[in-house]
Amino acid sequence: MRMPLIAGNWKMNKTVGEAVQLVEELKKLVADVKDVEIAVAPPFTALYPVAQALKGSNIKLAAQDVFWEDSGAYTGEISPVMLKDLGCQYVIVGHSERRQYFGETNETVNRKVKAVLRHGMRPIMCVGEKLEEREAGKTMEVVKDHVVGGLEGLSEEEMERVVIAYEPVWAIGTGRTATPQQAQEVHQFIRELLAEMFSKETAERVRIQYGGSIKPENIAGLMAQPDIDGGLVGGASLQAESFAKIVKFYER
Ligand code: 13P
Repeated sequence: MRMPLIAGNWKMNKTVGEAVQLVEELKKLVADVKDVEIAVAPPFTALYPVAQALKGSNIKLAAQDVFWEDSGAYTGEISPVMLKDLGCQYVIVGHSERRQYFGETNETVNRKVKAVLRHGMRPIMCVGEKLEEREAGKTMEVVKDHVVGGLEGLSEEEMERVVIAYEPVWAIGTGRTATPQQAQEVHQFIRELLAEMFSKETAERVRIQYGGSIKPENIAGLMAQPDIDGGLVGGASLQAESFAKIVKFYER
């Protein structure tokens, strides 16, 4: 059985004060949750205070990005050593916004995935097609390219520590969620691809999250699908109440 992982990607939102207030509220609302793994990914500037606020709670810390070198002359970058030092257990890698605005490619995503694994953290690797790619019937082709390119050179043991987030770009921040069937179709495709690339056993162990306009109202339908193992939540993770409702999808 795969333990669901529901993570909040706060993107470029929240000052230190706002971040700490959000997790203080969230901690109380999800304190009784046992069968769902919960994580939040604040901006870099709030990671340390949020890590302190999360101590002793059932919420894990994630970062939104990382550079692949451990240290050196890379002005403005953050290394996996630094994230590990703060207590990060997950790192989001290859988000479509980073691919779109910051030139992230399968090759840089692959380097980052390996850097995260090398330091004992777990990457959440994002994949997904743009609207024009879906409309051109290229969804599976694009997703395959992201999956194969991003995971190149990983061992089975490493692969089992990776989380894949399927985030159709047309569903991010648009209020237009993929239907549970549309998402399931791609998740199943990804799992079959992992079975070919690694093994059936490994493919069965890897968690595949859905992301894109998740809300308290649509999470249960998505989670009911056999290959959807959690969610990567943007906008609805910026408020404790809505994120807690998503985490407790089984009550819906
Ligand atoms: P929204 O939930 O705001 O659509 O964002 C999804 C996302 O990009 C999470 O990484």
